[in-house]
Amino acid sequence: MSDLSLRSVTKVFYRKDGEEVHAIDNVSLDIKQGEFIVLLGPSGCGKTTLLRSVAGLEYPSSGSISIGGVDVFNSSRRISLPPETRRLGMVFQSYALWPHLSVADNIAYPLQMEGLRRAAVTSRVTEILEAMQIEHLSKQFPSQISGGQQQRVALARALVRGDSLILFDEPLSNVDAKVREHLRVELLAMQRKLGFTALYVTHDQHEAMGLATKIAVVANGRIAQIDTPERIYRQPKSLEVAEFVGSINKISGRLSSSGDCIRIKTKHGSIPVSPEAVAGRKEQEVFAISRPEDWSVSTETPVSEESWRGEIVASVFLGAHTEYIVRFGELNIVIWKHKGELLPPGQSVWCNVKPESVALFDQG
Ligand SMILES: Nc1ncnc2c1ncn2[C@@H]1O[C@H](COP(=O)(O)OP(=O)(O)OP(=O)(O)O)[C@@H](O)[C@H]1O
Ligand SMILES: [Mg+2]
Repeated sequence: MSDLSLRSVTKVFYRKDGEEVHAIDNVSLDIKQGEFIVLLGPSGCGKTTLLRSVAGLEYPSSGSISIGGVDVFNSSRRISLPPETRRLGMVFQSYALWPHLSVADNIAYPLQMEGLRRAAVTSRVTEILEAMQIEHLSKQFPSQISGGQQQRVALARALVRGDSLILFDEPLSNVDAKVREHLRVELLAMQRKLGFTALYVTHDQHEAMGLATKIAVVANGRIAQIDTPERIYRQPKSLEVAEFVGSINKISGRLSSSGDCIRIKTKHGSIPVSPEAVAGRKEQEVFAISRPEDWSVSTETPVSEESWRGEIVASVFLGAHTEYIVRFGELNIVIWKHKGELLPPGQSVWCNVKPESVALFDQG
């Protein structure tokens, strides 16, 4: 059974001038118990609207949503359960804590709303305060603690009822990089321990890769692809997904095969590709997509005819790797190299791409 299921959910907003905005466009999605699904997409693509629709804070135009097998929204059956009955926790970007309540009282609030007895509330609150490592802050008010600490409190409040579904809308984007890293690791540990299903919104790719069992790439209100982080990165189903996730080199050329050899012929040289990437295509114009780490760069004259001769136009040392921009005629290729001496701009180099790492997309 899916813990969360969306069927053909659409949400149309009407702007003041009457223009229609399809914030969610016919989205269907099934999330199993314990999965960590990250919605990744650019600003305005509909991530928050989707999350708010699940929470019951937004009323979709059509479709249905069920949580734990129960219809919480169904447009044709005219069902729309109020947010407080949907049995889920939610964490927002702006921590949304009650300013007049202490840390402990903020966390206790959802339990008190349930009518839980005082002793039970205290014991649950103490438990989650310890798990989130904020026992020492329990008597403070939100204005007396840091942003990172406030977000810990918001997380604790969302988890305290032990709901099986937790929604997150960019919860870490307001905290600094180091704190974000810590909270990300802790959040994953909490999720493994408590076993809740997570639907998490971000536009940060690193965060998405680090958290998700599956990433759903959202574009223009639709899910462009839902897959493991590795498949999203290595086997993007569309140019749109490839261009949004990570850095790519996009090279235009013509597919050509002679005997066992399949190549993309371009103005700058040819690129060998694997038969899998060709996927039944005939001789035609394509885009060859590759990642910066799949290229090699060398100053030595190669034996392979597939090597391209170019000139380094920029080299930037980034710690774990060096980023080179190499120019071939009017084409610039980004290449990441993890080891070796730093090559200076102006240096003439030979470059190769691994054939098995090249993906093809049709042009036009
Ligand atoms: N109440 C509203 N009235 C009209 N249009 C809206 C309303 N809320 C959202 N929209 C529009 O719906 C689209 C999706 O908005 P949404 O907030 O879901 O995007 P998002 O992916 O969360 O973006 P961000 O990453 O910037 O938070 C946008 O074009 C937005 O302008
Ligand atoms: Mg948003």
